[in-house]
Amino acid sequence: MIFIANWKMCLTPTKAVKLTDKIIEKFDAISQQKISRIILCPSFSSLLPVAHLLEKTSLSIGAQNCSAFEPGAYTGQESIKTLQEIGCLFCIIGHSEQRTLNFETSEQIAQKMTQLLSHKITPVICIGENANEFKDNKTKFILLEQLLPIFSMLKKTTIQSIQQIIIAYEPIWSIGTGLIPDRTFLVEIFEYLDKICTQTMSNKSISWQFIYGGSVKSTNAQELASIPGVGGFLIGGASLDSQEFEKIVHYSYL
Ligand code: PGA
Repeated sequence: MIFIANWKMCLTPTKAVKLTDKIIEKFDAISQQKISRIILCPSFSSLLPVAHLLEKTSLSIGAQNCSAFEPGAYTGQESIKTLQEIGCLFCIIGHSEQRTLNFETSEQIAQKMTQLLSHKITPVICIGENANEFKDNKTKFILLEQLLPIFSMLKKTTIQSIQQIIIAYEPIWSIGTGLIPDRTFLVEIFEYLDKICTQTMSNKSISWQFIYGGSVKSTNAQELASIPGVGGFLIGGASLDSQEFEKIVHYSYL
């Protein structure tokens, strides 16, 4: 299973380094057994110091966003080349906090995906419906709408070998709220995601991985991990506490 810690904008570099040290202590052994992949995603300013600490460990570093453009005149953005130089193997794109606060579109997210893939960085593409869409039973429609630009970009791409794409299903109403969709619903959604991704892109040998995000905690990790198709978690708040993060990984294997 894959466990991605999304530290959002919660930590200064000093705090990110302290937390990384604690996490390395707890996780290096687990990660080395290859049963799980642990990825830490600090904010941009903490990427370099955290990457240095992770260098000789089995944990990986990922970014929370990237620019879709080549290095150049794009004030306030961060290039994929920089992420690559720092050693990022993963990059979260399309997080709902970016879609909502920065009005990022699914087309822009698809562009970022292509750029990441061409730099051999695995994109972690977040998709998910808001509370009203969930109530109106529109989840599948919204997920498909968010994935269609991804599919059309993948169909057009000339990139020869695409190793892995991670899709993080994160219901917006579940992020940071403690609310979790029920099991029956999640079983249906993960089945649906697998079906549309593998069927639509059947002529490309892409390894799709589907993970869940939204209020993942040690108290629900075991149940969530047992849902067919759930290959890991994107963890926000709970990943800021090394003990809680460790419990999530531990309970996911019970
Ligand atoms: P949460 O955040 O675990 O705090 O709900 C998840 C996320 O936004 O990726």
